[in-house]
Amino acid sequence: MFESFAQEPIAAASIGQVYRATLHDGREVAVKVQYPGVAAAVRADMQNLDMIMRLLKRMTPGMDAKAIAAEIRERIGEELDYELEAQNHSALARIFRGHPFIAVPEVITSLSRERVLVTEFVQGVGFEELKRRPQSERDRIGEIVFRFFLGCLYRHRQFSGDPHPGNFLLLADGRVAFLDFGLFKRMQREPVALELACQRAVSEGDAAELHRLLAQSGFLPEPDRVDPGHLLAFIGEAIWWYTTADEPVQLTPEIATQVMIESSDPRSSYFAEMRHQDMRPEHLFGRRMELLTLAVLSQLRARANWHRIAREWMYGDDPVTELGREEAEFYAHAGVGA
Ligand SMILES: Nc1ncnc2c1ncn2[C@@H]1O[C@H](COP(=O)(O)OP(=O)(O)O)[C@@H](O)[C@H]1O
Ligand SMILES: [Mg+2]
Repeated sequence: MFESFAQEPIAAASIGQVYRATLHDGREVAVKVQYPGVAAAVRADMQNLDMIMRLLKRMTPGMDAKAIAAEIRERIGEELDYELEAQNHSALARIFRGHPFIAVPEVITSLSRERVLVTEFVQGVGFEELKRRPQSERDRIGEIVFRFFLGCLYRHRQFSGDPHPGNFLLLADGRVAFLDFGLFKRMQREPVALELACQRAVSEGDAAELHRLLAQSGFLPEPDRVDPGHLLAFIGEAIWWYTTADEPVQLTPEIATQVMIESSDPRSSYFAEMRHQDMRPEHLFGRRMELLTLAVLSQLRARANWHRIAREWMYGDDPVTELGREEAEFYAHAGVGA
């Protein structure tokens, strides 16, 4: 199958190893090979998820733990199948072909199988080094990461659920290459529209509208137990950085930690009241992706007016940044997008 195949792996994957190889046509590839037996072991472990969810249900009684467990089981189950990952990866490679600053390596479909994934090898600068780059470079990378992960969800309704520092590299030509589409989520139009409507309500400080949207979509099983003003403050604590802060914000680990505490920790200001909130399973991986994106941007200490970027998909506003203008140009010609 290969012209040459390195004996030693170049990287550890979560449930496998990655090797470097060369195809007969000369292309350099990365070959992700799943450990034998690991898929069966993970499937067996997922049985314990029910027990964990029962414990979680005690902390947040409003939550539909069964539905959440089903969503987690489905996403992780898919992650065990590299053939499915190859399809999802290819879908994004197709969307971003020719993009000015986002690169998704091509998948070699003919060589990929349930436990083997072959992709074009990318050489680039990793996260540890990027963190030490000057502010302006970190800002640019941060904006690209934000546009890639949130833009995928809000423009294309499909996204990688794993914005991990190991999953992107800066290429020599200035583009950022994104890897790893194992944890992948596709969404229908309606739940995506709901998220954007909620973000607009937060941006506009419209507590009644936010309460109405969340009550109507099942997030508030007992709407009367949740005060609209408190709900607005609670959601605002998690997404203020791209909804209400209309100015350059430098994200820091302190900010990311604060957001995590406010949205999930019993120490948070509204925890007691928000225990009666439910997380609808359809939105679970999007919210998780958003928090992990924030964590990555915070480690980069990237600065931008995140709100003005997010307005492109929240309100259909014209871009105000150089990268935004390049991207708008790309979408105008690619004929896809929002
Ligand atoms: N196409 C590629 N080019 C270069 N390195 C790659 C490529 N694919 C994977 N890698 C390396 O292998 C690591 C693990 O691969 P990844 O797909 O992220 O596995 P996992 O899903 O287990 O996280 C990556 O973090 C990266 O260092
Ligand atoms: Mg990875």
